[in-house]
Amino acid sequence: MADNHTLWADVQLLALHAPELARTLRPGQFALARDPTTLDPYLRRTLWLYHIEGARVAFTLPARDPLVVRARVGDTLDLLAPLGRAIEFDSNARHVLLIGEGTRVAPLIAIAHDAIAQGRAVVLVTHTPFLPHSAGQGAWPAHLLSPEIEYRTGDGLDAELIAWADAIVASGSAQLYRALADAVRAARYRLEPGFARVLMDLPMPCGTGACYACAVETSRGVKLTCADGPSFDLIEFANQRTR
Ligand code: FES
Repeated sequence: MADNHTLWADVQLLALHAPELARTLRPGQFALARDPTTLDPYLRRTLWLYHIEGARVAFTLPARDPLVVRARVGDTLDLLAPLGRAIEFDSNARHVLLIGEGTRVAPLIAIAHDAIAQGRAVVLVTHTPFLPHSAGQGAWPAHLLSPEIEYRTGDGLDAELIAWADAIVASGSAQLYRALADAVRAARYRLEPGFARVLMDLPMPCGTGACYACAVETSRGVKLTCADGPSFDLIEFANQRTR
């Protein structure tokens, strides 16, 4: 492990020297790390891809996770990766809108960099209206973002932004996802399949489809966040209860 520091609020950054992973991990995917103090294969922690630079791969996880305290620079981490489905945009998607809430912005940053590298225009918004004021859950700090990401805070469900977008990825609460579905229908008259995706952030202890801890109910039946996600089409949740 090459780095372990708090990025902002409850977001911890773990960076690894991992040339193979740097070649194979794609935005939207994740890794599962085993806690070195236990042999239990079903107690893995989710690490969200944050940034890849050369052979260095940076992930984020909650700063309160015990793994953060135990992992030291120089340690070797036992990882399962890459896991989950990558976020791919249609070749015609020139405008990408990324909407996150508080610390849940973190997994969107790798997606933003990848979309920009593909020549797409990206607007990243920290959507603040649903955030609890007391939880240290303010807007993602602008100084942590590279300048090519156009960054806003406030209303990520702005009708003009939604009309501008060719594709949307959101990362936040069930309340945000329900409101996003309504806002898309209001701004574009209907919610098309493939237009908006949402990231589910649930504990994924095994990552292999064995434990069902990450099951979510969708309009197409029960799906597993680890195997079928962690991103899902918003249309699958538009009329569902999400956790
Ligand atoms: S984490 Fe066990 S089934 Fe998804």
